Amino acid sequence: MTNKLHSNDVCWCGSGRKYKRCHKKPDDIRAVGRVLPGRVSPVRPVPDSIPRPPYLQDDRQGVPSSRDGYEIHDAAGRDRMRVVGRAAAEVLAEAAAHVAPGVTTDEIDAIVHQACIARRGYPSPLGYAPSGATPYPKSVCTSVNEVICHGIPDDRPLEDGDIVNLDVTLFLEGYHGDTNATFAVGSVDAASTALMRVTRECLDLGIDQVRPGAPVRAIGQAIQDHAHQQGMSVVRAFVGHGVGRQFHAAPTVFHYPEPRSTDVMEPGMTFTIEPMIALGTGQHLLWPDGWTAVTADQKRTAQYEHTLLVTDDGVEVLTAAPA
Ligand code: MF3
Ligand code: CO
Ligand code: CO
Repeated sequence: MTNKLHSNDVCWCGSGRKYKRCHKKPDDIRAVGRVLPGRVSPVRPVPDSIPRPPYLQDDRQGVPSSRDGYEIHDAAGRDRMRVVGRAAAEVLAEAAAHVAPGVTTDEIDAIVHQACIARRGYPSPLGYAPSGATPYPKSVCTSVNEVICHGIPDDRPLEDGDIVNLDVTLFLEGYHGDTNATFAVGSVDAASTALMRVTRECLDLGIDQVRPGAPVRAIGQAIQDHAHQQGMSVVRAFVGHGVGRQFHAAPTVFHYPEPRSTDVMEPGMTFTIEPMIALGTGQHLLWPDGWTAVTADQKRTAQYEHTLLVTDDGVEVLTAAPA
């Protein structure tokens, strides 16, 4: 059966625009510069000897659910979080070293997959299916240009001038570590350079708010203030989160001042801050794959993420880049 869209049909992506003005492949794709869905390779196997995270096990006994309050780590738990945080940062650095024009995001997936296994860890995204979603099919998220987050690695080669976010989550000895960063492919335009700088600053300003007794809401206030001051917007639909024995847990870390957020930071809490900042609108559309989120105006967006530990007197960045 063929089911081809005609030029004047409404585009499949949900934008409401005509296909010819949206995702129809132009003769010169680079003149338009939109990211198009590519071919996704078969699932990469993980050796049976590597322990799976709870959401891939039949027996979930003893693992807290997202309905529970947040997890407070004792000294042993904090050490486990330090170990997985450092490992996740190493995997991200290894993947980043392969970013170059002509390299496909699927090749980056293969690097991340192997790097996780080499550390006896499981790539947390692989098979992850929160409440009824289609299981995520790859080991890393690769989000190019207007892709906000959760881009699925495929056969699209990175192009000179692209920006690409690599989001690595590793499950090691019962704990998850989650970190991401955005990288320039070759030489990028000035607006993209500014976007990446401001987004990194937003993460740093968020981290500056972390200490025992501080409201989680202060993080989002600091991030939004800086983004708006720079004429950029905050993507509100995706948030930071508690991370530990669970991939996604309480508290929810909004990247804007959300009045309903009443959580207060406590020593032993671990959570991510992962602002997504956009040059244009912060509104998003979802591709039909159910995962890939793009900006509604197809302008570029960047993201940086760290896993943080609230210590007795401040903060530890568990996923700091290896020296
Ligand atoms: N690592 C992402 C985060 O920061 C979550 C990715 S879920 C996936 O929360 F299934 F898309 F991998
Ligand atoms: Co995260
Ligand atoms: Co992440």
